[in-house]
Amino acid sequence: MSSSSSNSSGPLLGLSSAVTEGESFNMQPPSEPSRRNWIIACGAVGAGAAAAVAVPLLGSMAPSEKARSAGAPVEVDIADIPAGGVRIVEWRGKPVWIVRRTPEMLQGLEALNSQLADPNSDRADYPVPAYAKNVHRSIKPELLVTVGICTHLGCSPVSKFETGEPSGIAVDWPGGFFCPCHGSTFDIAGRVFANKPAPDNLEVPRHMYLSDSRIVIGQDEQGEA
Ligand code: FES
Repeated sequence: MSSSSSNSSGPLLGLSSAVTEGESFNMQPPSEPSRRNWIIACGAVGAGAAAAVAVPLLGSMAPSEKARSAGAPVEVDIADIPAGGVRIVEWRGKPVWIVRRTPEMLQGLEALNSQLADPNSDRADYPVPAYAKNVHRSIKPELLVTVGICTHLGCSPVSKFETGEPSGIAVDWPGGFFCPCHGSTFDIAGRVFANKPAPDNLEVPRHMYLSDSRIVIGQDEQGEA
């Protein structure tokens, strides 16, 4: 497993950490002690992401206090995220999931539309960048970049990538994310299922690719978020 590394220029910062499952998440950047606790308490995003690449925080990647307070974009090495795996990074105090989906994970997305609250990501509370306004909600179909905070009351959902009965969700569960706080479910593109407490799909932050193996979160060709 290789680790993310800091950028060589500008305010971009490489920072990888993991998130506590199902825990209420402060939407504001936490203070230094709470941030440290958050990082220490981290686990994989869920049992279904056992292969997830949740690398420890490396001192060399830690952003400066100034950059943190400015909410600087985060540069991430994604080369070693395995198929079906997740890397979790922190951006503006929020966990951002980068999921490398398999063709099998993607194949049923279109068929789910009728079961979803906002299948085309039309709602305005969490506007989706134009490049992610598609059925897979991403620039590259296989790579999902989304904020891992439930749009209901701010818990952090857990991954439930296994499908069907073994997931413990439903016999026809297609794979996705589950918020244990009040039972909201999201598909593998972060789209919320209808008639759930969460009103909106998971947020897709501005992001862009620097190369096939490096991504920036919090900034795109239009500027910073
Ligand atoms: S916080 Fe996720 S369902 Fe309530």
